[in-house]
Amino acid sequence: MKVKANYSVEKVPSHMRGNPFIEALPTWREEHEIVRLIANVPPANFAITPDMPQTERRSMLKTLDSIYLPNEAAAGLAGAMDELIRNAYLTRNPMNVESVAEMYDDKSLIHQQGAHDSPIAGMMLLEGCSGMGKTRLVRVLLARYPRSIEHHEYKGKKLHTTQLVWISVEAPVGGSLRSLLLSLLDEIDEAANLVGTAQSYADDHRNSNIPKLLKAVGRAAKTHNLGMIHVDDLQRITELRSKRNGVFHFIVQLANVVKCPVIFTGTPEGAAGFEDSFEAIRRMNSDGAFVIPRTQKFASKFAEVLFKYQWTPVPIQPDPKLIAYMVYLSASVTHVMILLHKEAHRIAIRAGDPSLKKEHYTSAYRSRLRRLYKGLKVLRKQQPNSEKAYEDIMMELRKDGFAKDY
Ligand SMILES: Nc1ncnc2c1ncn2[C@@H]1O[C@H](COP(=O)(O)OP(=O)(O)OP(=O)(O)O)[C@@H](O)[C@H]1O
Ligand SMILES: [Mg+2]
Repeated sequence: MKVKANYSVEKVPSHMRGNPFIEALPTWREEHEIVRLIANVPPANFAITPDMPQTERRSMLKTLDSIYLPNEAAAGLAGAMDELIRNAYLTRNPMNVESVAEMYDDKSLIHQQGAHDSPIAGMMLLEGCSGMGKTRLVRVLLARYPRSIEHHEYKGKKLHTTQLVWISVEAPVGGSLRSLLLSLLDEIDEAANLVGTAQSYADDHRNSNIPKLLKAVGRAAKTHNLGMIHVDDLQRITELRSKRNGVFHFIVQLANVVKCPVIFTGTPEGAAGFEDSFEAIRRMNSDGAFVIPRTQKFASKFAEVLFKYQWTPVPIQPDPKLIAYMVYLSASVTHVMILLHKEAHRIAIRAGDPSLKKEHYTSAYRSRLRRLYKGLKVLRKQQPNSEKAYEDIMMELRKDGFAKDY
């Protein structure tokens, strides 16, 4: 989404005032306010009549996808993100003459891209098992910010520039750094409305090598005042042992070149790829390493929310045993809970049963979720290597073409 800059100093700390990139951002909220802001539990008071056709009942299951219940990692991650984005802009005030010179002077640009500079901006890592909601959480948090802001005039002075607040890319399958860098350029093109134009960065660099691409990303990020980069599915890059070292250097360079915070999301396996590399871990920890834990507490809360949504003729008040059973079957994986609730519905509706019952969940687990058996079983064992074994199984399933909506 592209918006025109609207400057406000509300809740802008005094040392950050006078910076149009910071004043144009939405109001800086407290962490507890953010949790309320991003939650989405729409009212479940739809009119269900006993004679409602099955097709209509089933069509309503889609509503479950729009629910969002912030998890344990949400507040902390949001807080860190908001702080990093502003800190990064603090050093790039376009009203400050040196900053402007730095933006347009090639020499200082190249100098700034020296790999030995310590990066001003930080990095964040969000870990969690597959299906725990990493992608969803980061996308929701990013969506609090417009993707790009157009500036024309600030305090009576001309300021013709675009501020790309964030871009989000998926690490490419197979982990090619070239493809990752090209996706970053594609995203910048997209957010800056350059797709198909002569100014397209990606078109200009389809055949460039990695060092050139890195420079291009740095330049584009600078020109368009990029605030934050999100790289999803980091484990795809670290999947191959042989590539880990390269990834480490890449990350250091990216931080140096882009000078804006980078948030990585991936499974614990993805982060494990950096274990040998003390510096990468230090960098990531310095600004935030976050985990979406797989807890029965959150899963039970989530199950209770799911039961607010029932499209069978006679909705039930789920007893704690049924909640516990759902949590058990899903091994507390959020996505699996949604799938179970949807499939249990389909089974009940198809059978013409008036209400949801435990048996519907058992059948859902045995039918639609059959392929997840093995993975969920190891997760339930709670052994030290359970999560790794689960991710290995999930990875195999994905290679098999097992779609996102497993
Ligand atoms: N807290 C939540 N509230 C509501 N829905 C959620 C929540 N967390 C995850 N989901 C849903 O579960 C599904 C999986 O989430 P998502 O794709 O974000 O997981 P992920 O951790 O990125 O998994 P992967 O590692 O496989 O990419 C999505 O459909 C998402 O909408
Ligand atoms: Mg994901």
